[in-house]
Amino acid sequence: MCIVIRKAEVKDCPGIFDLITELAIHEKHQDQMKISLEKFREDGFGDDTKFQCFVAECEENGKCIHMEDIYVVPEYRSKGIGSKLIGSVCKVADLQNCGRVQFIVRDSNKSAMKFYKHQGAIDLTEVQEWHLFRLTSDAIEKVAAKYD
Ligand SMILES: CC(C)(COP(=O)(O)OP(=O)(O)OC[C@H]1O[C@@H](n2cnc3c(N)ncnc32)[C@H](O)[C@@H]1OP(=O)(O)O)[C@@H](O)C(=O)NCCC(=O)NCCS
Repeated sequence: MCIVIRKAEVKDCPGIFDLITELAIHEKHQDQMKISLEKFREDGFGDDTKFQCFVAECEENGKCIHMEDIYVVPEYRSKGIGSKLIGSVCKVADLQNCGRVQFIVRDSNKSAMKFYKHQGAIDLTEVQEWHLFRLTSDAIEKVAAKYD
């Protein structure tokens, strides 16, 4: 997780306003909170600014490694080789500051799924209902043509 502290911008107003409300509730003085979001925005970012504000933002690391085709021949399986292979990919991810290592698995390959889960991977289809979509040559051409 990467936290960045920066000066607040006008787009942050609704979020900051929610946080001020949360703080007021936490301190049990929400009845004293009279300011509206519009007034808050004007006071902070209008012509005559009355306050400055900083926010702490959590930057999701978007860099990702896509891993393809991990394979260990049957007679060498269960000897820790698969772990070492995926481990070396994760080492690169770590060094290159990638937030994700991801891969796709056929639904029928339950054995590989167990292996990945054993490594701590989460199944996004199971947990977040993601579906993998793909454009192939004809569709790529069609979509690309729209931007010619
Ligand atoms: C998946 C594959 C790469 C795993 O390689 P491997 O060398 O056998 O795995 P490892 O020996 O490093 O196993 C690491 C751990 O995962 C566990 N594990 C491996 N395969 C497992 C399985 N099918 N079910 C449950 N656990 C499994 C091991 O028990 C081991 O646990 P431990 O660290 O507590 O001892 C290998 O089985 C393979 O090549 N399978 C066929 C190809 C394939 O399906 N590739 C994936 C395509 S998406």
